[in-house]
Amino acid sequence: MNRRADVDPLTAAEAAASSGAPALRMSGVGKTYGSGPGRVVALHDVDLEVRPGEFVVLLGPSGSGKTTLLNLAGGIEEPSEGVIEVAGLAIGGLKGKQRTVFRRDRVGFVFQFFNLVPTLTALENVEIMAELTGPDATARSRRALGLVGVGDVGDRFPGQLSGGQQQRVAIARAIVKEPPLLLCDEPTGSLDLATGRQVLGVLRELAREGHHTVLLVTHNSEIARMADRVVWLRSGAISRSQSVAHPVEASELQW
Ligand SMILES: Nc1ncnc2c1ncn2[C@@H]1O[C@H](COP(=O)(O)OP(=O)(O)OP(=O)(O)O)[C@@H](O)[C@H]1O
Ligand SMILES: [Mg+2]
Repeated sequence: MNRRADVDPLTAAEAAASSGAPALRMSGVGKTYGSGPGRVVALHDVDLEVRPGEFVVLLGPSGSGKTTLLNLAGGIEEPSEGVIEVAGLAIGGLKGKQRTVFRRDRVGFVFQFFNLVPTLTALENVEIMAELTGPDATARSRRALGLVGVGDVGDRFPGQLSGGQQQRVAIARAIVKEPPLLLCDEPTGSLDLATGRQVLGVLRELAREGHHTVLLVTHNSEIARMADRVVWLRSGAISRSQSVAHPVEASELQW
């Protein structure tokens, strides 16, 4: 079966870059879970515009709404209010198959808790995504694993990998489809300094060379030094947003 993408993600990234539409725009976005006494306002009044190719770091205490913001931007969850556009496309209007295609072709997710399929090897975990988004799935998957430094463990199952190796397989799975919008939730939380720098360097390069837009959530404020912009969340709202005048290279980070 040939499952080529309906939309070439790289073309979509370049189109977004040249069309003038922001890579991501959130206007008046809020998200409330539950109702009555158990009601939780996870996000409120969020206005955010991210340009194509921008590398944005999101900082904030636990529970401040960082994962919620990524899930909304990637169309995994629906906002309770407000409008979200990705490369000029209002994603609230997408239904069924359209929403699936949007998530498959436009967005790459690195989840906070990896979400690897335990019964597939590392290589197969990456291949399932590669097959959905273009030809030469195995070669692209091997290359993606190599880029993040786990090319030698492709035949192992997630249960046979360290936390940091699993994390890097999850990153390979997200970058293998070269998504226009890459949403990363604590992608270096389980990595040592050298490996973290390597992975962050790969993400930075995708943003710089390919117009891929990166939103990266972290508790490590040192990573903010390599961003184009840093956005702080506090109690479900953006408390501050600041451009970084001279972002440093990933190789210069220390922790
Ligand atoms: N499915 C859900 N149902 C109810 N409440 C939720 C749900 N998901 C998140 N929340 C609540 O929304 C708020 C924001 O959660 P979120 O996961 O976005 O925080 P976070 O900033 O990513 O935190 P962390 O740094 O711990 O990962 C928290 O109060 C959380 O308990
Ligand atoms: Mg989170």
